[in-house]
Amino acid sequence: MENQKRVKVSELLRMAPGSAVLVKGWVRTKRGNKNITFVALNDGSTVKNVQIVFDGTIFTEEMLKGVTTGASIGVSGELVASLGSGQAVEVSAKSLELYGTADPESYPLQKKGHSMEFLREIGHLRPRTNTFGCIFRIRHAMSFAIHKYFNDRGFFNLHTPIITASDAEGAGAMFQVTTLDMQNPPKQEDGSIDYSQDFFGKSANLTVSGQLEGELGALALGEIYTFGPTFRAENSNTPRHLSEFWMIEPEMAFYEIQDNMDLAEDFIKYLVNYALENCMDDLQFLNDMFDKELIERLKGVTGTDFVRLSYTEGVDILVKSGQKFEYPVSWGTDLQSEHERYLVERHFKKPVILTDYPKEIKAFYMKQNDDGRTVRAMDILFPKIGEIIGGSQREESLEKLITRVEEMDMDTKTLWWYIDTRKFGTVPHSGFGLGFERLLLFVTGMGNIRDVIPFPRSPKNADF
Ligand code: 4AD
Ligand code: MG
Repeated sequence: MENQKRVKVSELLRMAPGSAVLVKGWVRTKRGNKNITFVALNDGSTVKNVQIVFDGTIFTEEMLKGVTTGASIGVSGELVASLGSGQAVEVSAKSLELYGTADPESYPLQKKGHSMEFLREIGHLRPRTNTFGCIFRIRHAMSFAIHKYFNDRGFFNLHTPIITASDAEGAGAMFQVTTLDMQNPPKQEDGSIDYSQDFFGKSANLTVSGQLEGELGALALGEIYTFGPTFRAENSNTPRHLSEFWMIEPEMAFYEIQDNMDLAEDFIKYLVNYALENCMDDLQFLNDMFDKELIERLKGVTGTDFVRLSYTEGVDILVKSGQKFEYPVSWGTDLQSEHERYLVERHFKKPVILTDYPKEIKAFYMKQNDDGRTVRAMDILFPKIGEIIGGSQREESLEKLITRVEEMDMDTKTLWWYIDTRKFGTVPHSGFGLGFERLLLFVTGMGNIRDVIPFPRSPKNADF
């Protein structure tokens, strides 16, 4: 076995019978009798298993005793045409190596069909299930496709900081980063904490968005994107919020709001289409097991023009709908996911791009419209998800930006470097943020965002 090269199951299943092969993986099931034993082996390279056949004349029951569900083994043998239904080829075993046993009494994944809630409690083992194998392979494919999309179009990947001293969204729900002694922090004369003695000489946090730094990149390199973890300390215990999530934030010089919408729509359709073209085995599994309309829904999005309308028109539709919402809606209120989903799923039956929101419910950096009430925001709303993308054209006028920062009681001093870009060679520019896990919720059809990230962080939950 030693000098043979291991072949992955994904590759093996495409090979013609006749070759000598070495496979390694984890046992999914074992059945048979003392004359013949069939093992379904999975190595994570595909949702499909390879069937291994152990002939009772070579392998005694004693030799196969440790080969139980969850155990890890290596098998060398011959790839042969399969007589059974369900697979074209199988491996006729010649030799076996048992790497690690998995006691059937205590291995938690002995049986199939565990609830998603139970699997969250065994986050260290859930990647071994078919479902999570599919999800994490799709997650990888989407990450790759994002880099490919932007690289093919001349965007540069900009690495923005995770630790920052600014609050990009002006929302204030941030995780603090400090090395001060929490029991006995240094104080100023007025009793407040003296952050000049902290590690960075000022108060610092985990970033909520890479946008502000992304804008600096766009105003030099033209078109950039960030793709990194972002952190929000809101106490939002919903199936669509995480405390640590990944965001993709493109930022483009010389883009107006229309260009921004065109890019966002093309981008998201490209990603869904990439999944349909490259992840069909995994999508088919999720479609069959969880959501019979998944693949149809994905195809629906790639083949349709998104509806574009203003917040004002959207609220009008909601108010006139006669629908009873948990949160009442009127002009000026922030839309809840129930409102967003009504527009998408019930009214238009396709994705919606909503623009020109009231300035009071949006961030300070958005370009102000001439009406004095709205800003050039654009949110993309998706079936089953609600908001999947949030973005805007940015305020490029120095004067208007400073006025807005002051109106919102923000500190022009800590934002001096951002404001400075409007003094030197300012240009119209735009960008948006796609929540990576929201995208994955849509592409996998999962109902809870904690199931599309390997190690979810949410209030009271940072195990594994
Ligand atoms: O709408 P948000 O807060 O926008 C920004 O952060 C801007 N700086 C983006 C930009 O213009 N560059 O967040 C963007 C997206 C949302 O549409 C949503 O998909 C996702 O990030 N998101 C979350 N995903 C999971 N958990 C959370 N707590 C999220 N908050 C936002
Ligand atoms: Mg938003």
